[in-house]
Amino acid sequence: MVLAPIGNYRRIRRLNYDDLNTLVCWDNDPEINRLTGRKFHENVHVDGWWEAILRDRSRIGFAIAADDGSLIGDVELEQISWRTKEAELRIAIGDKQFWGRGFGTEAVREVLRIAFDAMNLERIYLRVQEDNLRAIRSYGKAGFRKVGRLIANGRLTGAVDLVLMEVVRDSH
Ligand SMILES: CC(C)(COP(=O)(O)OP(=O)(O)OC[C@H]1O[C@@H](n2cnc3c(N)ncnc32)[C@H](O)[C@@H]1OP(=O)(O)O)[C@@H](O)C(=O)NCCC(=O)NCCS
Repeated sequence: MVLAPIGNYRRIRRLNYDDLNTLVCWDNDPEINRLTGRKFHENVHVDGWWEAILRDRSRIGFAIAADDGSLIGDVELEQISWRTKEAELRIAIGDKQFWGRGFGTEAVREVLRIAFDAMNLERIYLRVQEDNLRAIRSYGKAGFRKVGRLIANGRLTGAVDLVLMEVVRDSH
């Protein structure tokens, strides 16, 4: 299961191979990769990442689209555990002109519909830097609540603590 059947969604669509160049450009943007961490690096090449999206049952990726269908970002469910019915969400709107205009919240809501209704998952969680107030506000609007804090260990995101947030199916 990876590129799931995708029906009536306004803000997300299937990722295409042609989208990858744009994702790489955004991944090289220091402001974006400070907020999200690197998607691609020496151990995760673009083609390997794409292969994983196509074949790995523990992750699923979607494009986030503007009203005209053009790519503005991507959203993934990772670490999918079909046994415990949970997964981690990651999102990045790479085209900064679309920040703060509701697109991210809408994309997350649509992915949650897929996760809970189509994939039968029960809990979606995410990690976000505690100073990323726009993201935390957006996740809150989509139904996530803060459940914990991960103290910065200096490895992934430098010195910033991470907030752990989750949404469970019945509360959604
Ligand atoms: C995080 C992200 C997905 C959110 O999507 P978005 O479309 O920008 O978010 P929305 O417009 O739906 O919601 C943002 C909310 O935060 C609010 N906000 C913006 N800046 C804020 C700030 N500095 N402090 C508090 N709230 C802020 C907005 O007013 C809005 O809330 P409102 O609708 O109540 O007014 C998107 O901004 C993004 O991809 N950013 C770059 C990468 C990133 O941070 N990814 C997340 C890593 S965990």
